[in-house]
This record gives sequence, structure tokens and C-alpha cells, in this order.
Amino acid sequence: MISPSGLSRREFARYLVAGSALSLSALDALNAGIAQKVTALNQKYLDDEAPDGVYWEEIRKLYDFEDRFIMMNNGTLGPMPRSVFNTLAKYYHVQASNPFDGYNILPAIRESLRTKLAAFVGASPGEVAITSNTTEGLNFVVNGLDLKPGDEVLMSNLEHPGHIGPWKLKEKRAGIVIKEVPLSPTTRSTDEIVGAFAAAIGPKTRIISISHTVFITGLIMPLKELSKLAHDKGLLILADSAHGIGMLDLDLKALGIDFFASSPYKWLGAPTGVGLLYVRKDALDKVHPTVVSSGWENNPDASKLDPSGQRSDAVLYALDEALDFNTRIGKTRIERRIKALAARLKQQLAAIPGVKVHTPVDPYLSAGLTAFSMGGSLESRLVDYLREKYNLVVRTTGNAQAGTYGIRVSTPIYISTKEVDMVVEGVRTLLAHKA
Ligand SMILES: Cc1ncc(COP(=O)(O)O)c(C=O)c1O
Repeated sequence: MISPSGLSRREFARYLVAGSALSLSALDALNAGIAQKVTALNQKYLDDEAPDGVYWEEIRKLYDFEDRFIMMNNGTLGPMPRSVFNTLAKYYHVQASNPFDGYNILPAIRESLRTKLAAFVGASPGEVAITSNTTEGLNFVVNGLDLKPGDEVLMSNLEHPGHIGPWKLKEKRAGIVIKEVPLSPTTRSTDEIVGAFAAAIGPKTRIISISHTVFITGLIMPLKELSKLAHDKGLLILADSAHGIGMLDLDLKALGIDFFASSPYKWLGAPTGVGLLYVRKDALDKVHPTVVSSGWENNPDASKLDPSGQRSDAVLYALDEALDFNTRIGKTRIERRIKALAARLKQQLAAIPGVKVHTPVDPYLSAGLTAFSMGGSLESRLVDYLREKYNLVVRTTGNAQAGTYGIRVSTPIYISTKEVDMVVEGVRTLLAHKA
């Protein structure tokens, strides 16, 4: 029998006599069946560019969806594969029925999870903090940096409130200055983005703080180039990548970023309550922890930024399973499918008169979020139309004054071209019947 991740043989033997063995062995059997299914599919179907076919239909069946429910707003919150939910429920049951093991045994997952999470994103375990969500990770970094009154942070005009908020607080409490770097909402070029930030750097600039996955337009910021710019100028760089983990095949060391926060319950299939905060080794001594108990003084690793106090270990086991689920399918295969589905959507939308696609076509500057507008308040009508006709969920996003108001569609691995085409049908129908 496989021991639950993170438990030593001795601990697990103790576990067996503690009365939780039955449910855990049943869980192992249930999840092993799902793992074997993916392995068998991998052996049978080549990893090619085709977005559809039996492979992905079978992967979809590994999620539990309500009848006919089509979730295409992962940008907010995505579904869990069944194996992840099984894991979550079983470990919550341990906590509910045997809290003694809940605090003695279950926390053993923390370090093995950190190692697995680090490997998944191309980091070292000492560079990974396990937070609750992106907003928390961003707050931890911003709050933890020593900045002086007048020090400047450069941010784009396309940022999320969860990223702007902590800097506004820092502005109020520490007197730092937020300088906005305006980007065109439909920017299409790495040089344009890097050039805009380069031009804004001044003698007081200390850090570039930007979205990786822009929630309103679907732009993927060129982090590698921006990190190089920042480091060439002696600056730090922070990325808000709320959507990145599970959507993109991340290699954080290669990106060169100093700080990176992400939410694995959007695209990776983890439950809410757990987040990733990466801090590059060289930047670790620049950030103080925000929430502490004992032991932080002598901790040189990113784990000093883990929230202290009791926390839900069940969600950590579930994240562990979500990482396994994604790894079995393959990170590159996942990114390719997500991008292939988005490319089909953008291609069809661009051919419809009256539609303005806000997301770049370039797969280097875009991925699973596609945003577009139709004008005439058709955006909110499209949300309702798709929900009523197909039980398909998308959302409106952005701001009319800034020229970013539109529909945002997520193209996760479990949807198919058929569902992309349903969105396109809705757009065509509403434009044809425009009052
Ligand atoms: C770009 C961006 N940053 C931050 C957040 C906040 O994420 P969370 O609520 O997971 O902390 C979101 C949420 O969707 C987002 O899109």
C-alpha cells in the first residue's frame, strides 16, 4: 500500500492502527484507478497538437461536473479533478474524526509538498512558501520589503485590485510612490511593453511590480525580458501570476523573476485555501515575514513566509494530488492544449465583423484567457445567452473608460472545440439580432 505523501514508514504504521487506515486505503485505491487511467491514455495517444479526440474526452471524465455544466471562467475559480476532491474529503475526515492525528501526523505533508511544488514550477524548495492565495502572497512581499519614503514602484495600468491594494497600503504607511506605466489595452509586442517600463525607470525606482497573467485582457507579460531589464537596472521584480500555475508550463528560475504569486485553484485543480509564493534565492533576505510565530528569526528560506498558526492540511494533500494529476498529463501538453483552444477561439472571433479581440494572437503573449468586445452592451447579454442556452459560464471583465470592457473566456483542458464553437455561435447570433 502506498503511504500518504509526507508520512514516514513509522508514522504511517502508527496511522494504520489509529483507525483511519480504512478510509485512506480506500482513497489510495480510488485515486490509483484515476492515475492508471491517465497513464494508459498517455501510452495510447500521442502527445500531438490536436486539441480534441479521445484523449481529452477521457480526461474530462476525470472531473465531476454537474449535468451539462461547462465552466469557462477558470480565471476566477476552476473545478477539481475527482482525485483531488477525494483527497480533500478524506483528509478533512481525518481532521474531523481524529484531530489528534490531524495535528500530529497530517502536517508531515508540508515539506514534501514544498519540494513537489518547487519542482513543478522550476524552483528550489527553499524558494517556495505555501500561502493561502495570490492576494496573500502579494501582500506578504509588499509588506515585507524595506522601502523608504519616495522610493518608487512601477506598475502597469492593467493590474488587479489584489495587487494594487497592498501597494496602496504601503504608499499610505511608508510613503512610497506608485508610478503607473500606461500600456495600450491591446498591446501586441514585447518590445513595446519592455520599452514602456524602461522609459519609466528613474533614480528612485526600486521595483517593477506587474501582472504575469493580465486578468482583463488575457495578455501574458514577457516576464523574462522584464526581469532582465529590472536586474540590469539593479531593481527587484514582482509578478502577480494568479492564473499562471496549471495554465503555463512554468520555469521560474528561467524567467528570472524575484517574487511570484499564484493561485492553484484556478487552472491546476486544487481547492481554495492554498497558494504559491516563490521568492528567488537572492531576494530572500530582502523580504521580512508578515505573519509569524516561533522560528522565523533564523529561517533563511521562503518557508519563513508561510502563514503561521494552525492551517488546513487537507488542502495541502489535495494540492499534492492536483500536482500529480497535472504532472501525469504533462505540463507542456496542458499548455499546448489550452493555447490551441484559445487560438481557435481568437481566429474565429477575429473573422466576425463587429468583434474586437483584446488578447494578442502571439502564443508568447497569450494563453488561456481570451477577452473581446462586441459593443452595444452585447457583452453582458452574451454571458446570459451562453448560460441559458448551453449552461456555459463566461464573465464580463474590464472597464469601458479604459477601453478594456469585454467578455473573458477561459479555455481549460477539459473543454473541447465544440464548446469554443458554442461561444462563437453566441457572438454571431447576438450580433445578427442587434437591436
Ligand atoms: C491578476 C490577478 N491577480 C490577483 C487575483 C486575486 O487572486 P486570489 O483571489 O486567488 O488571491 C486575481 C483573481 O482572479 C487575478 O486575476
